[in-house]
Amino acid sequence: MEKFIIHGDTRLVGEVEISGAKNAAVAILPATLLIDGITTLENVPNISDVKIICKILTSLGAMVNWTNEHTVVVDTRHLTSTHAPLEMTSKFRASYYLLGALLGRCKDVQVGLPGGCNLGARPIDQHIKGFESLGATVYYGHGQITANAHNLAGSTIYFDVVSVGATINLILASVLAKGTTVLNSVAKEPHIVDVANFLNTVGADIRGAGTDVIKINGVSKLSGNHTYSIVPDQIETGTFMTAALASKGDILIKNCIYEHMDSLSAKIIEMGGNIENFGDSIRVSCTGKLHPTNIKTLPYPGFPTDLQPQIGVALSIADGTSIINESIWDSRFQYTNELIKMGAKITAQGKTAIFEGVDNLIGAPIYASDLRAGAALLIAGIIAKGTSELYNIHYIDRGYEKIEDKFSKLGAKIERVNEE
Ligand code: EPZ
Repeated sequence: MEKFIIHGDTRLVGEVEISGAKNAAVAILPATLLIDGITTLENVPNISDVKIICKILTSLGAMVNWTNEHTVVVDTRHLTSTHAPLEMTSKFRASYYLLGALLGRCKDVQVGLPGGCNLGARPIDQHIKGFESLGATVYYGHGQITANAHNLAGSTIYFDVVSVGATINLILASVLAKGTTVLNSVAKEPHIVDVANFLNTVGADIRGAGTDVIKINGVSKLSGNHTYSIVPDQIETGTFMTAALASKGDILIKNCIYEHMDSLSAKIIEMGGNIENFGDSIRVSCTGKLHPTNIKTLPYPGFPTDLQPQIGVALSIADGTSIINESIWDSRFQYTNELIKMGAKITAQGKTAIFEGVDNLIGAPIYASDLRAGAALLIAGIIAKGTSELYNIHYIDRGYEKIEDKFSKLGAKIERVNEE
């Protein structure tokens, strides 16, 4: 079991380079299953969720070859299986994309149920409803989802909730379907646009990604021999922006997309931080007391739920009372119990948390309950007075590449320790 020992009271200063987007990579890698050819993906984040997807692709008969730290070549010409077993799929959430991709290519698939961070109920009814609307028959049982569709046909689908996963899965299932699919009330996150851009690069006809309605005209084939570079990670960018704010530091965040960060930038400015846009880099700096604010998480372009714990750390030391309303997940305030151990004054009940800012956090033993909670608690340890021990860091490794190296270059004092 690894843990981080963090010596705190650090003002983060310097430059950091953002990796490719986790939530795009974990969809684009399964999307290569739709191609009968060889695809080169660049700017792939070297994180544990991506490594598991690569293992699953290999188990399905794809040849997966890392040609450097961030470039993966996937040869999907000779698939040998349409069965992704539960022991692999249960390790992460995005394994549900194997259903859409395999169904699109092979018409007859068996995929173990997805796992992933415990954020409360994580149903996939909208994915299933969409597959059925395209003509698939879907069964559940013994930890597996089985889907068959010998003639997938375009359809018009109205989602009942705005879902990132269902939007991407229905894009995957419909690119090779006969006719036109229209997806209504879709998610608009940058990784949705990236998946559509990737698929269009290899020959799909997807229009409207990034708006409320996506139209997919089915094509007969997607072609190999393309190279695609994955978009920079919006949430990693936001994690470092929030870290600059909470540590009252000054960070130049490189290789990121300013426009993806609008809702967070607005809150950082409200809280007293400064933002400068340099095109593909953003400088966030802050001096003095942080102002309190209220936040409600929403689908993109609203404030991302995946940055809620990180900004919660900044609110815990703001000069006054702030309220966060979490509208996406039922159980995303588990990190507040750890911040309370560090001296924060937070009352969390259901989907609302009230933060009464304190002057300082104090180092303590703390436990990550999920990926973004882990990132938030790492920031908390960096700014706290004294030393913190952060446990369950395997959650952080799922989505952040070399996080301790990146923070250490900014002045943080973090050791990764292997504890028997
Ligand atoms: C994606 O999860 C992300 N994961 C999550 O990031 C992120 O928190 C979430 O989108 C929201 O932005 C990946 O992209 C791999 P949803 P996903 O379907 O697709 C309800 C991280 O830390 N819903 O958009 O699973 C659901 O319960 C992770 O990187 C249904 O009711 O989320 C939730 O309330 C954590 N039925 C809401 O919709 C469905 O069929 C949004 O979920 C699907 C979802």
